[in-house]
Amino acid sequence: MPARYGHFDDDRREYVITRPDTPLPWINYLGTEAFFGIISNTAGGYSYYRDARLRRITRYRYNNVPADTGGRYIYLRDNASGAYWSPSWQPTQRKLDSYECRHGLSYTQISSAYLGIRAQTLYFVPIGETLEVWRLRIRNERDQPARLSVFSSVEFCLWNAQDDATNFQRNYSTGEVEVEVDGGVIYHTTEYRERRNHVAYFGCSEPLAGFDTEREEFLGAYRGWDRPAAVERGESGGSIAHGWAPVGSHHVRLTLAPGETREVIFVLGYQENPPEAKFDPPGSGVLAKEGVRQALSRWLRPATVADGFEQLRDSWTALLATLRVDTPDPDTNRMVNIWNPYQCLVTFLMSRSVSLFESGVDRGMGFRDSNQDLLGFAALAPARARARLLDLASTQLPTGGAYHQFQPLTKRGNNDIGSGFNDDPLWLVLAAAAYLKETGDAAILDEPVPYDNEPGSATPLYEHLERAVQYTLDRLGPHSLPLIGRADWNDCLNLNCFSDTPGESFQTTVNRADGSAESVFIAGLFILAARELVGLAQLRGLPGDGYRAAADKMAAAVVEHGWDGAWFRRAYDYFGNVVGSSENEEGQIFVEPQGICVLAGVGVENGIATRALDSVRERLATEHGIVLVHPAYRRYHVELGEISSYPPGYKENAGVFCHTNPWVMIAEAMIGRGDAAFDYYRRINPSAREDLSDLHRCEPYVYAQMIAGKEAATPGEAKNSWLTGTAAWNLVAISQWILGIRAELGGLRIDPVLPADWPGFTATRRFRGATYEISVRKPAGLTGRAGLVFVDGEPIEGTLVPAAAPGSTVIVEAIVS
Ligand code: BGC
Ligand code: NOJ
Repeated sequence: MPARYGHFDDDRREYVITRPDTPLPWINYLGTEAFFGIISNTAGGYSYYRDARLRRITRYRYNNVPADTGGRYIYLRDNASGAYWSPSWQPTQRKLDSYECRHGLSYTQISSAYLGIRAQTLYFVPIGETLEVWRLRIRNERDQPARLSVFSSVEFCLWNAQDDATNFQRNYSTGEVEVEVDGGVIYHTTEYRERRNHVAYFGCSEPLAGFDTEREEFLGAYRGWDRPAAVERGESGGSIAHGWAPVGSHHVRLTLAPGETREVIFVLGYQENPPEAKFDPPGSGVLAKEGVRQALSRWLRPATVADGFEQLRDSWTALLATLRVDTPDPDTNRMVNIWNPYQCLVTFLMSRSVSLFESGVDRGMGFRDSNQDLLGFAALAPARARARLLDLASTQLPTGGAYHQFQPLTKRGNNDIGSGFNDDPLWLVLAAAAYLKETGDAAILDEPVPYDNEPGSATPLYEHLERAVQYTLDRLGPHSLPLIGRADWNDCLNLNCFSDTPGESFQTTVNRADGSAESVFIAGLFILAARELVGLAQLRGLPGDGYRAAADKMAAAVVEHGWDGAWFRRAYDYFGNVVGSSENEEGQIFVEPQGICVLAGVGVENGIATRALDSVRERLATEHGIVLVHPAYRRYHVELGEISSYPPGYKENAGVFCHTNPWVMIAEAMIGRGDAAFDYYRRINPSAREDLSDLHRCEPYVYAQMIAGKEAATPGEAKNSWLTGTAAWNLVAISQWILGIRAELGGLRIDPVLPADWPGFTATRRFRGATYEISVRKPAGLTGRAGLVFVDGEPIEGTLVPAAAPGSTVIVEAIVS
C-alpha cells in the first residue's frame, strides 16, 4: 500500500493526485460567486446555483456504492474496436495507462491516457458566470488515425435536492427537456410553466452525432453508469425525456490524425429568465433561449475559455497576495500561502452545506460557523466579509440572541437545526472586531441593520454587538457563569436535553425549561468578546468601561468556579454538578475552556494559564493532535446529551476535534512557548501528514473537522474534511500568533513566537492598501519575542507598526531577543 497518492505542486498551486483509487474521493470546489460544485479526483460530484438544497442542478448519490456516484462524466470510445473508457477513471474504472488529477484553486484538471489516446479535461466556473466549463483536449498518440466517439453525461435534478431523494410520485412526472440539435444544446426544466423561471442547460461546441436525455435510454434498463448502452453500441438513442430521470448526453464523432489534438468544450449552466419573458414567442410554451444562446456563444469558444481560465488564476494570485510567507518549514509555507486561505474561502462560501460529508440539504449557513469563517477570510476579501457581516447581523434577534442558521437564498434565519445555543451571538462580536482590525472601516459600526430581517427594526451595527454581549449578561446561572442553553460551541454538550427517545435529535428536541446549566466556555468567549467591544467602543469615542468591568467580573467568576486546580472546568450541569473536573470519572478535562479562557487572557499573568496548558499536554495531546476530552465517555450520560452518544475517541467524544487545536496553539504563543505552539500546529497540518495518507484517508491539502482520538479504534483517521472552523482558526493561529503578523485596530502588530530552532522568516503582508515587507530575525536556540522593530530602517517604540498610506511599501524588520 502506498503511503501517498500524489504530491504538491507549489509553483502551480495544485495538488497532483497520481492514482485514482484514493482512500476516499479527494474533492475540490468549483465556483466562487453563485454557481458552485464539488468535484472529486475522478470527476464525481454535483453542481448547484447559490443554494445546494433549493437549486440543485445535477444529481449525486451520497453514501452509495460504488463510492462517489454521479458526476461530470465523459466517455471515450474507439470506434474501430468498440473499446470504451472513462478518461477520469470513474465510472468505467478501466485500468488507464496513465492518470493524473490536478486540483487547483477553484478548478480541477484530470488527464489520462488509454489505448494511445490522451485526454485532458479542465473543469472550472468562469468569474461572473453561472455556468461551468469542461474543456476536453484529446490527442491521438497512435501512428494510425483514430476514429473516436465522445459522450458527455450529466444527470439533471433541478429542484429541491431533499425532495429529489424522497418525492418520486411527483418528480417522476415533472422533468422536461428541449433539445436544439443544431446548436448542440440540451435544456432541462421542472415546474417551469408555473413558479420557476430558471433552466439548466448543457451545451457542446461540436456538431452532434446524437444525444440522449432519458436516463434509461442512455444507460439501458438495469445498467449503471459504468456501461451505458449508448456508449457500448457507439450510438445515442436520441431520446426525449418526459418525466422520469432526465439526463444530458451529447455524442460527438471525431477522426484524429496521428499526433493530432482536438478540443471539445461542454458547458453546463443555469439561466434565469425574467418572469414575463419565460416563453418565446410569449405564451407559446416554448422556452425562451436567448439568454442561454448568448452565454454559449461566448463560452463554447476556445479563446473565451482560455481567457476565462487565466482570469480565474489571476484572481487567485491577487487574493493570495494578502499574505506570503517564507519560513524554514515547507508544510507551513504551502498551507499559509495556498491551501489554508483557499479552504477559508470555501468555508466562507459554503459554511457547512456541501462536501462529501455535508449533503447540501441539511444545513444552511451556520451563524456561529460563518462568523468564525470570517476570521479567516476578513483579510482576503474585506468587501465580501463586510457584506457577510451585515447579512449575519440582520438575522440577529432583538434579544441579542441568534438563530443557529440561515438560508443563503433568502438570508432568513430558521430553527430547523435547533435554537438557543447561548454562545452564538458572541461570535458576531469577534467577527466584527476581526473585520475592523483588518480594514479600519469604523463606519460599518454605524450601518443600520435590522433584527430578524424585520423592516423598521434597524439600529446601528454597534448596537447589535452590544446586545450580543448583553444577551450573556442577561443569562447568568448560580455560579455567575453563563447559562448554556441548548449547547455552546460544543453542539453535543446538551445539558438541558435529557433525551432518551431513539432517533430524537439532541439539537431540536424540547429542552427542560428551567435549566440552569452553565458553561465555562461561554464565560471565556464572553471575556474575549467584551474585551473586543471595549476597543470598538473606543473607536466611537466611548470609554467602554462597562464592558471592561463585565469582562473582569466574568474572569473572576471563572477563576472562582471554573478553575479545577490544574485546568479549567467545562461546565455545571442541570443539577449543578461539575463537568470536566478531576471529580468526574469520565470526561475529566476538556480542551475548549483551556484554549478559550487563555485566549481571553484568564490566568496569563499568574501562571494559571501555564498550568492549564501543561495539563493539556499531559492529558490531551497525542501525535495526531489534541483530543477534545479525556477520558472519553464510555457510557451514555443522559444529563450530558449527544457527546456521550458517540463511541469513545470519535467526534466530540474525545476525537481530535481539530477546530479546538489552534486555540491551544494561540494560547501557547500567548504565554511565549513557541516550540509547543508550532509542534501542535504541525501535528494536524494536513500537508505534514501527507505521508500518513493511508491512515489519515482524507485530502492532504485541507483540514478535516476530526481525526480519531487515542481512545478510538482507528486513531489518526480523519473524517469530515473541508467544511470546518479549523480552516479559519489555523490560519489565525499560524499567521497571527506564531508568525505573529496581526492586524489590530491601531496598525499591524509584529509579535512572532517561533520555534527555537528557526533563524527567522520573511513575509509580505497587504494591509489596508499598503504592502509590508517583513523580515524577522532571531538567534537559533531561543523563542523570545520581538525586542526591536524597525520601520523603513527606523526603530519604533514597541511592536505595533502604524498603518501606512495606501499604495506604499513599508520595510519592517523585527529582531527577536
Ligand atoms: C455533530 C456536531 C454537529 C451537530 C450539529 C452533531 O451530530 O457531532 O459536530 O455540530 O451535530 O449538526
Ligand atoms: C460542528 C459545528 O458546525 C460547529 O459549529 C461546532 O462548534 C462543532 N461542530 C462542535 O460541536
